[in-house]
Amino acid sequence: MKRALARRLGAVEGFRDPDPGLEQYATPTELAAQLIALADLHDDLAGRTVADLGAGTGMLGIAAATRNPHRVLAVERDPDAVAVGRANEPRVEPGVGVEWTVADATRPPLAAVDTVVMNPPFGAQDGAEHADRAFLAAASEVAAVSYSVHNAGSKAFVESFAGDRGGTVTHAFAAEFAVPAQFSFHTQDRAVLDVELFRVDWGRQS
Ligand SMILES: C[S@@+](CC[C@H](N)C(=O)[O-])C[C@H]1O[C@@H](n2cnc3c(N)ncnc32)[C@H](O)[C@@H]1O
Repeated sequence: MKRALARRLGAVEGFRDPDPGLEQYATPTELAAQLIALADLHDDLAGRTVADLGAGTGMLGIAAATRNPHRVLAVERDPDAVAVGRANEPRVEPGVGVEWTVADATRPPLAAVDTVVMNPPFGAQDGAEHADRAFLAAASEVAAVSYSVHNAGSKAFVESFAGDRGGTVTHAFAAEFAVPAQFSFHTQDRAVLDVELFRVDWGRQS
C-alpha cells in the first residue's frame, strides 16, 4: 500500500510561491506514504477523524483521506497554500473530501480528533529553533495520537516534551526528506535532510 500511495501522491503539486518564513516545503511523497501507512497500520484510519496541522499542499491530509476516514480536517495559515491543497484533492481523488480551514494550527479551531498528522516547521530559520514545539503542544491538546516529522536529533526533545504532557513516544523512525532548491539561499539543486518520524500516544481514548 505504501508504494501505491506514494505513486498516487505523485499527482500532488507543490507550493506555487513558497514562503521560506513558513518553511513551505512539500512533504516528499515517499515520506508522506510512510507516515500514513504507519498511522493506518497502528490506528486504523478508517472511520476516524484525522487533522493535518500546517497542511500546506495537502500531501498528508489528502493521503489520510485515501484510507476511508470519517473526516479529514486540514488547518493551514496561508490561504495561497490552502488554494494549492484544494486544487490537489481532485488530482488524487482520495474518496473522502478534506475540510480546509485557514487558521493558526498552533491554536487549532478543533474539538478532539483521533489522529493528528503533521510535518510542522522545524525552526530552520534564524531564531525559530523548535518551531515544532507549538505544533506538538496543539497535538497534545486535541489528539489521541499524533504522527509527526521533525529534524534529525529531535528524539530526546520530543520524548521529554510529550512526557511533560502525559504523552509517550511509542515509535520513532529515521527517514529522508529531499528538498528541491526553491529559495535564493539554497546553494544545491537538491538537498537531502535527515529527519525523524514519531508516533506519540497522548494518553487519551480515541
Ligand atoms: C514543512 S511545511 C509542510 C506542509 C505540508 N504538510 C505539505 O506537505 O505540503 C509546513 C507548513 O506549515 C504551515 N504553517 C507554518 N506555521 C503555521 C501556523 N502557525 N499555522 C498553520 N500553518 C502553519 C506552512 O505554511 C507550511 O504549509
